[in-house]
Amino acid sequence: MDKEQLKAKLKELREVMKTNDDDIDSDQDLGVTQPPLTKEKISDKIIPLTKEFDQVVINNDFLSLVNTRTSKRKYTDESLKLEELAFLLWASQGVKKVIGTGRKATIRTVPSAGARHPFETYLFVNRVNGLEQGLYHYLPLEHALEFLGTIENQIQKVDAAYCGQAFFANAPVAFVWTVVPYRTEWRYTTNAQKYALLDAGHLCQNLYLASEAIGCGTCGIGAYEQPLADALLGLDSTPSAEEDNEFVVYAASVGRVEKKES
Ligand SMILES: Cc1cc2nc3c(=O)[nH]c(=O)nc-3n(C[C@H](O)[C@H](O)[C@H](O)COP(=O)(O)O)c2cc1C
Repeated sequence: MDKEQLKAKLKELREVMKTNDDDIDSDQDLGVTQPPLTKEKISDKIIPLTKEFDQVVINNDFLSLVNTRTSKRKYTDESLKLEELAFLLWASQGVKKVIGTGRKATIRTVPSAGARHPFETYLFVNRVNGLEQGLYHYLPLEHALEFLGTIENQIQKVDAAYCGQAFFANAPVAFVWTVVPYRTEWRYTTNAQKYALLDAGHLCQNLYLASEAIGCGTCGIGAYEQPLADALLGLDSTPSAEEDNEFVVYAASVGRVEKKES
């Protein structure tokens, strides 16, 4: 790509960061039935999760959590407890209530433009007590995990998809968030793409602070090979404007970190 082509590309891409004139009839305006709040479960291997976090949180001091938060990429060999993972899932995408009668929305632990919550959470698990290594999907309405299966040579494949970031592939657990853009586009059409990206920051920030609160560390991950990362979840990266289009938008590793000497 030469300099002029690059400039043209940047000009086009920067428009996503602006608010668009939204004088467009959205599917919501046109009375189209809203998309499902979450993806349906596809597995019969369901792992219920606790919401009892009293024993899990070891630091409740907000100022200290904010001050000690950094991106942490070095983890001990220790496994995470299932209750700790439950807490991290709750903090990043937990559903506190479902509102509405005809049209419904989820109110979660993180904000989202119009409460559209366009994300799905997947996990590459390596070391979590009670879970075998493999791929899991969070069911936020049930606060449960579904086991999607094992991945042959998981660590090598995750490493390749995430640009050789070995700390991510080897982490006790790696979170991957996909976006289902239509959930937000149904209401916000051409502003939805910007809103979804803004939303993504909120869920990962909660994961950062929740990890600190349980003596763990996390690192947000934006570097990955889109087709490989999507393929690992059984998704197709082909550009699409279909309602069921879903692709990876963000990820984060989590593991226990060495306690600092005081
Ligand atoms: C959107 C986003 C993407 C990131 N992607 C990566 C990544 O792929 N690999 C990585 O090692 N760190 C990644 N980071 C972490 C940043 O490098 C880190 O936040 C930054 O250096 C500031 O350090 P701090 O988080 O410790 O304050 C990412 C952070 C954000 C917010």
